Amino acid sequence: MLIFAHRGASGVEPENTLRSIRTALAAEVDGIEIDIHEVDGKLFVIHDRWLHRTTSGHGQIFNYDYQYLRSLDAGDGEVIPTLDEVLKLIAGKCTINIELKAVKNLTLLFSCIDDAIKTTELLSKDVLFSSFNHRLLHAIHQQRSDFAIGALTACYPLDYAKFAEQLNAYSVHLDVDFISEHFVADAHKRGLKVFVYTVDELEDINAMKHLGVDGIFSNYPTKAKSHIAHL
Ligand code: G3P
Ligand code: CA
Repeated sequence: MLIFAHRGASGVEPENTLRSIRTALAAEVDGIEIDIHEVDGKLFVIHDRWLHRTTSGHGQIFNYDYQYLRSLDAGDGEVIPTLDEVLKLIAGKCTINIELKAVKNLTLLFSCIDDAIKTTELLSKDVLFSSFNHRLLHAIHQQRSDFAIGALTACYPLDYAKFAEQLNAYSVHLDVDFISEHFVADAHKRGLKVFVYTVDELEDINAMKHLGVDGIFSNYPTKAKSHIAHL
């Protein structure tokens, strides 16, 4: 069972910061999940479109420019990282799951990733895109079939097999509340990996292992890794 650090090691470090990613890498995770927003022609690694929960700023991220957003404290003196900074840090070390929150310009997104592929050890096979916006995933699939797609769902999707097929998805990402033996068996029969979020409690980790899911997203990847090693 693979361990993805959810927003980096966000249970112990400020989420979606370089610091949280360094801590996750030190735990030798299999993958790191981040969230991105496109603002002022740049790709920022941040979960919310409102600034107050995770930074020293207030208001909506879209009302500000690059310089202002980079002046904010994203926790423990960290800045809001950009996607290229994160790619540089993760390249060659593990899978990067880029969850697209608000991204309109796919050319910008692809050029950021292609630059990293050219200049770092990043490989296209190590990039896994996911989003609740399946229209966006569909556009990615049409333009770049070299990137893997994770069909992310927030509910128990009755038609998941249909959209997974339309997206030629590699994986389906399901909330821990909705996972079942039947779902795992059905997804596996269709050749889909099953990745479950967000799994922090040891009891839940045991249950996911028992169900045979392929990976979990955890805010505490160090704890999750050491727990699994002893199962
Ligand atoms: O990608 C899994 C999970 O991160 C989706 O939910 O709200 O934490 O981005 P959220
Ligand atoms: Ca996310």
